[in-house]
Amino acid sequence: MSLSIRKLSPALGAEIFDIDLSQPLSDITASAIEKAWYEHSILLFRNQHLSDAELVAFSKHFGELDAPPIGTSNRYWVEGFPEVLVVSNVIENGVPIGNLGAKEVTWHSDMSYEEVPPIGSILYALEVPPVGGSTEFVNMYAALEHLPSELRRKVEHLSIKHDGSVNAAGDLRLGKQPVTDVVTCPGPIHPIVRTHPKTGRQALYIGRRPNAYVCGLPVPESEEIVNELWSRAIHPDWTWRLDWQVGDIVFWDNRCTMHRRDPFDPNSRRVMHRTQLKEKLPQPPIELTPDRVLESQAV
Ligand code: OGA
Ligand code: MN
Repeated sequence: MSLSIRKLSPALGAEIFDIDLSQPLSDITASAIEKAWYEHSILLFRNQHLSDAELVAFSKHFGELDAPPIGTSNRYWVEGFPEVLVVSNVIENGVPIGNLGAKEVTWHSDMSYEEVPPIGSILYALEVPPVGGSTEFVNMYAALEHLPSELRRKVEHLSIKHDGSVNAAGDLRLGKQPVTDVVTCPGPIHPIVRTHPKTGRQALYIGRRPNAYVCGLPVPESEEIVNELWSRAIHPDWTWRLDWQVGDIVFWDNRCTMHRRDPFDPNSRRVMHRTQLKEKLPQPPIELTPDRVLESQAV
């Protein structure tokens, strides 16, 4: 199976042409897309027309779907589709239909504040503003490769605690307290250098800047390392920006990329629907006791 594909930038991303994602995909096409995803870290499909059911069906080719965080109004974002998250600034009857508003969304890897963050996200543009609201992506394999060797050696065996008290638009999440002490605040701990389980390549994983803390270090030393990592991670040579068109679908890998979004006029409308893929944790091997061996021979 060969896809019609073109790189979007030297750094990362590829566009796949001549494919209608509203139609069922053959296993061969789905695995060709998955292979391209590992190779390019971000895939763009343009001019798509998908219902939520079709978006979910397309997403499920690449793994089990992760439940997105539910909205402030304590209901699913899209009735009947618990897997779909709405990213939007639109307010209907006084209630936001989605999250992240119209402000800038700062650099992050999705839900790094979870113990097991989603491995990938699929974002589908239904309405886009005439100006602003573009999304930038950065290649975190390249970010790691370009670290000075001394810094790389220093962080290779260190981990960061990731804070989820605020979202990437800077708003305090429902039920969270503002962080007053990065050392004692809750949050999952992830290694700074991680090996992508599918590509075998190492990537820098720094998640999000606010309240990041390098475990075990005094705060000033942690701040110095975190600031240095952030000042070096983002570079025009390994970023790529998408000016959205209606019908765009972007499929990104949270293990080796981060993204941010430009602000836009809150009076214009931006509506995106998103799914996210759950990490499949390795299953412990089943121990073969004599009983199990007999059972397995019985079939
Ligand atoms: C997201 C996100 C930014 C955007 O959906 O995870 O960060 O451009 N979106 O909407
Ligand atoms: Mn995001």
